[in-house]
Formats: sequence, C-alpha cells, structure tokens
Amino acid sequence: MTAAACGSGDPAPSQGGGNGAVALEGVGPITLASGKDTSGNLQKQVDAWNAQHPDQKVTVIELPESADAQRQQMVQNAQTKSDAYSVLNLDVVWTAEFAANQWVVSLPENEFPLDKLLPATVETGKYFNKLYAVPTTSDGGLLYYRKDLLDAVGAQPPTTWAEMAATCEKVKAKNPSLDCYAGQFEKYEGLTVNFSEAINSAGGVVVGDDGKPNVNTPEAAQGLQFLVDGVKNGTIPAEARTYKEEEGRRAFQAGELIFHRQWPYQYALANAKDGSSKVAGKFAVAPLPGLNGPGASTLGGHNYAISAFTPNKKTALDFIKFMVDEPQQRANLMATSQAPTWAALYDDAELVKQFPYLPGLKASIENAKKRPSVVKYQEVSTAIQEAAYSAMSGSVPPADALATLQTKLEQLTAS
Ligand code: GLC
Repeated sequence: MTAAACGSGDPAPSQGGGNGAVALEGVGPITLASGKDTSGNLQKQVDAWNAQHPDQKVTVIELPESADAQRQQMVQNAQTKSDAYSVLNLDVVWTAEFAANQWVVSLPENEFPLDKLLPATVETGKYFNKLYAVPTTSDGGLLYYRKDLLDAVGAQPPTTWAEMAATCEKVKAKNPSLDCYAGQFEKYEGLTVNFSEAINSAGGVVVGDDGKPNVNTPEAAQGLQFLVDGVKNGTIPAEARTYKEEEGRRAFQAGELIFHRQWPYQYALANAKDGSSKVAGKFAVAPLPGLNGPGASTLGGHNYAISAFTPNKKTALDFIKFMVDEPQQRANLMATSQAPTWAALYDDAELVKQFPYLPGLKASIENAKKRPSVVKYQEVSTAIQEAAYSAMSGSVPPADALATLQTKLEQLTAS
C-alpha cells in the first residue's frame, strides 16, 4: 500500500490529520520516549548530544520492551495532551494513527537528508504523502542459525521450511536437548510480524497493496500451517509461544536453539565476548526460509516524530537531525548491529567486513512486505494476533481462523 493511499476508512489530512505545518519553535530541554535500550547505546548517543547542547538536554524515557506496551503509553500521554514526551520513537506501524489524530506534527522534508535514506523506510514515516516521522533505524527479519552445528552435519542454511525441519532432525540426532526453531510468538505485535512473514513466505498476503485484505486463501493457509504444524510436531518448542524478542534472544544466547527468526540487533549481543552469550562466534545469519524457497521479511523499524504537545519543537527538530545523520547511524550500527536507514552504510566495505549480513539485510529491507498503514492499525494487529494465537494453540482450525480474520479485516478497512 502506498503512503498516499492509506487504506479506506482513514480520515484524509484535511479532515483530521495533517493540519497546516506547525511552527517548529521553542528551544530548551526535551525528552525522548523510546523502547527498551537493550544495548545501552541510545543513552551514549544522547550523552553526546547533551555535551554539545547543555541548555537543550535530552532525557531518555525508557518505555517497556513490548511494542504494544510502548504504544499504549504513548497513546495515553497523547490523549491527555501531556508534554511528558517530546520526541517519540514510533514503530513504523503507528505513523497513520499518530498523524491522523494530530498527536505528532508534520515535518518539513527539506530539513532532513531523505534522499540519503532507504526509500522504503522514508515511506513508513509518511501519511497522505506528508512526512510525520523520520526513520532512524530499520528492521528486517533474519534467520539466525548455529553454523557450528550445521557444519557438523554437513548442512547449508535452509531456504525452505522443510529443509529447516530436516536439518533440525540431523542436528538433534547428536544434540537431543536442543530446540529447532523460535520466533516471536507471544500474543503481541511480534506475532503479527511472524504471522505475516509466514503468510508472505508461502505466497499469500494479509492486506494487499491495494489496501484490501485477502487472507482467506490456500497460500495463506499453507503459511499458517507452517506455524501450526511447528507447534504440533515440536519443531517450535512450547516455550516459544511466550517469546517476545528478548526471551528468544536469551534462549538463543544460552545455546538452546538451532534456528531463530530475529531482528539484526541480536547479532552484536549474541556475539558479545564477555561471557553473556554461549554462542558468540558460533552462528551466522541467512534470509528467512519459505514454503518453496526463500521467504519474505516484514518491514520493521522506528521513526522519530515530534509531539504536538511539546513546547520545545526546535530543539526536538535539531535532535532528530542529529540522530538521523550519517555519523550517528554509523556509530549506532557499530555499537548495536541495528539496521541503519542511511543507504550508503550498507555498501561500506569496512562495515560489511564487521557485519557480513549487511548486503543481504539491505535486500531484505528493500523487498520487505509492509504491514497495513491504517489509523486503526492496533485493531487490525489484534485481530491478526487472535487468529494466529488461536490456530497455534490448536483451539481453532487454521481455515476457520483465516475466514474469521478475513471478515474482521474487511470490517476494519471498510470505508
Ligand atoms: C521490532 C520492529 C518493529 C516491530 C516489533 C515487533 O521492534 O522494528 O517494527 O513492530 O519489532 O515486536
């Protein structure tokens, strides 16, 4: 779906969203509301800004780890017109809701180096063709695999789900206590991502580029079947249905998993040589597998926006410019292995040496499938999570879960 056509049922900017541009004035201290700083690097970046701007200090407000819980706190603040959060680190899927409700201000495109950023990431910050949020990190799903264990059985990284299961059998013959595969299967935004990837990787769609849901199809059924069968036959361990990103990362780092669907941030942490990871130096990453060949990632990432209720909008603007610029993105990649939005970093020979997955990640982000860009995104996501969870827990047959989901999505995206 293009940013200009944000799905039927959404208010056009003149009706409720994009107001005339608000003057970005006001200089002084601000806050940055952002999800859990898993690497500690965000605080370092903010410290660097603060050292240069003693009268415009930024205070980080760390929000919960789960995307849904972050959104809930940001929405609550916005609904009470609180100025507690000045800059909001928005998940790519929240732009429409925050823009349409005028909780964030529209931003002047010419203030940012948008032509230097991956176009797919810039799109996610737009609503009805206007910029509301500037992408600072992107995200694409990767298949982390235990290279040491695959080498020991002479296996290559799998390109299909069937190959992945077969490789697990071989590895488990020697290491019976290991689990095969995990992703983010708790009932929250991560499940929406993993469900969408399964559907897309079997050739199906959840909501098409035309904004129309089309999930009650044989292709989608095969995608969901991968997750349902995985739970049934143990390829996906029972614990994985309680995993968000961090629980899965801990399991992978403890050496419990052969394969793990995860974002790039895990690369640096799982490679840490300080004893916190048992798998440092023992894993590699590959594209996600699919039904008949490589799968498709869902596009993730985060964009910085300015709260409509903060008095110090000029400082907020300058801080966002600082964070999106090449030096900060380079430093952040090196410290955290998070996916930058600055396109040239993916082709930088030094960086590619340190992070060999960068070219593959760039392709994965460029080809990634977007989640629907709609104001009622949270309701859409909740419907998806319910369908996925009920099918994976065995309480609803997959075909019924998809039929119900199709009806709900039609209602939520209807004009
Ligand atoms: C990552 C992604 C984000 C996604 C979330 C799901 O943070 O960047 O887009 O919604 O994971 O858990």
